[in-house]
Amino acid sequence: VSVTLPTDAGQTMVVPTEPAPVVAPNMTRDNGAPIGANRNSKAAGDFGPVLLEDTTLIEKLARFDRERVPERVVHARGTGAHGVFRATADISDITKASLFAAGKETPVFVRFSSVIHPSGSPEGLRDPRGFATKFYTDQGNWDLVGNNLPIFFIRDAMQFPDMVHSLKPSPVTNKQDPNRFFEFFSATPESTNMLTHLFSNLGTPSSYRTMDGNGVHAFKLVSKDGKVTFAKFRWVSRQGVKNLTAKDAGAAQFNFMTDDLYREVGKGNHPTWDLMIQTMTPDQFGGLNYNPFDDTKEWLGVPFRKIGEMTLDRMPSNYFEFTEQSAFAPANLVPGIEASPDRMLQGRLFSYSDTQRYRVGANVMQLPVNKPLAPVVNNYQDGLLDQSGSTSNVNYFPAASAPRQVAPEFAQSTYEVNATVDARPIETTNNFEQAGIFYRSLSARDKADLIANLAIDLGQVRSDRVRTMMVSYFYQADKDYGSRLARAVNVPMAEVAKAVAEYDTAYPQQRLAVR
Ligand code: HEM
Repeated sequence: VSVTLPTDAGQTMVVPTEPAPVVAPNMTRDNGAPIGANRNSKAAGDFGPVLLEDTTLIEKLARFDRERVPERVVHARGTGAHGVFRATADISDITKASLFAAGKETPVFVRFSSVIHPSGSPEGLRDPRGFATKFYTDQGNWDLVGNNLPIFFIRDAMQFPDMVHSLKPSPVTNKQDPNRFFEFFSATPESTNMLTHLFSNLGTPSSYRTMDGNGVHAFKLVSKDGKVTFAKFRWVSRQGVKNLTAKDAGAAQFNFMTDDLYREVGKGNHPTWDLMIQTMTPDQFGGLNYNPFDDTKEWLGVPFRKIGEMTLDRMPSNYFEFTEQSAFAPANLVPGIEASPDRMLQGRLFSYSDTQRYRVGANVMQLPVNKPLAPVVNNYQDGLLDQSGSTSNVNYFPAASAPRQVAPEFAQSTYEVNATVDARPIETTNNFEQAGIFYRSLSARDKADLIANLAIDLGQVRSDRVRTMMVSYFYQADKDYGSRLARAVNVPMAEVAKAVAEYDTAYPQQRLAVR
């Protein structure tokens, strides 16, 4: 209840008087039946037991027991926000994806996350950060499930479970242990570029608003007339990229990244990112000294152009309903955007939808945060918590009594493969060059922080062999980088030289194109 009063300045102001009387609705059980007691269990007198026949108590506890779905096996800690994407350039010459019509607006939901640590972990821990965007386009949902770093540790999905096991807490002590993950990485030289990024201050961003996002893989864009162009996507933060030192990240408040997003979006300071793409056609691949579908590499030197912008303007009304239940999957592609042969992306096409069907259930796509705005027309049915509400008798195809069609213009692109089917590594590995380029691009201060950050973890590794191999990789990226790290973690330079020689003999195909 309020009254409107004139102010001195001749305007009016609304002044609340007393709280409006509320007619409290009756509380019910989930079956809608009113309940008579919600604070006390039904008990046999002051000294008797609580009765199983107290269905209100049993239901309340049973519902509570089932409040959590299993957390994501990686990227468990996250924060989501709603927003809008606006296309700013006509790229119909390279993709028929409908969302890229210049000026068109598409609603989005974004979830930022850390990777390794569990849902209740502090947000200052060193980790890549997830940057997953769900575009609710008029031709279905497109999920661009990326990270703040532009590259990844490994280049084949076959190694992902092993890598994650090594980074997760030990199955014996339940503690993350550098002895375990450096043992894995010491046999995985392609991780050098990602480790160099991760142990720089990019591994401890100062907020989600001040990070870039990267699709990391190449995607295949297809135009209306079937032309194929490969593309990498990057979100560039208009807030600028800002990071913390390890010391400041260690001292940061438990929830500082989540708090920042709720606070800034809440007060109307809506963060914005420009969507940039790099493109290459297959005839440009010949000049590269790396495999264009190797996600441990950036497409350095390939120009970026802006194709759109995204603003996050609303925080979810309920964390669990939107952020926790959001399910992003690289398999959620739309006409005009297809998978490339990147072996990590190929594995991800399966893994996400698979875990979500297990974790959230077969009808995960019916939940409001995941449901496409585009109508869903197919014969998939039933399963746990189905709410499709279908009233049709025809759940098969084809059926003349309920005709449906598929349109040939939405068929995926065709391509030729002339190769021996085999399980073997890619040929052009070039494992260290880009890590060196990145190292040399850092300021003196950032170089010192990177080496100090690496030394904290690598210095805990007991195996001389593992420490030496790791240092030898960083040395092959850049001599100054490797030599400084060798001093910091007590590895003799003679041992580093031996490890480099051994690497060159064991993996002659992995010699650097540029050293
Ligand atoms: C989450 C698997 C590589 C970014 C996940 C989840 C799985 C997974 C199972 C949990 C999904 C869920 O429970 O909803 C894999 C596999 C990979 C891989 C098998 C390699 C073959 C990558 C790469 C990136 C990435 C290269 C970055 C480009 C993300 C993000 C999430 C995620 C951002 C969190 C999505 C969200 O906010 O819900 N990944 N991942 N992953 N992954 Fe990966």
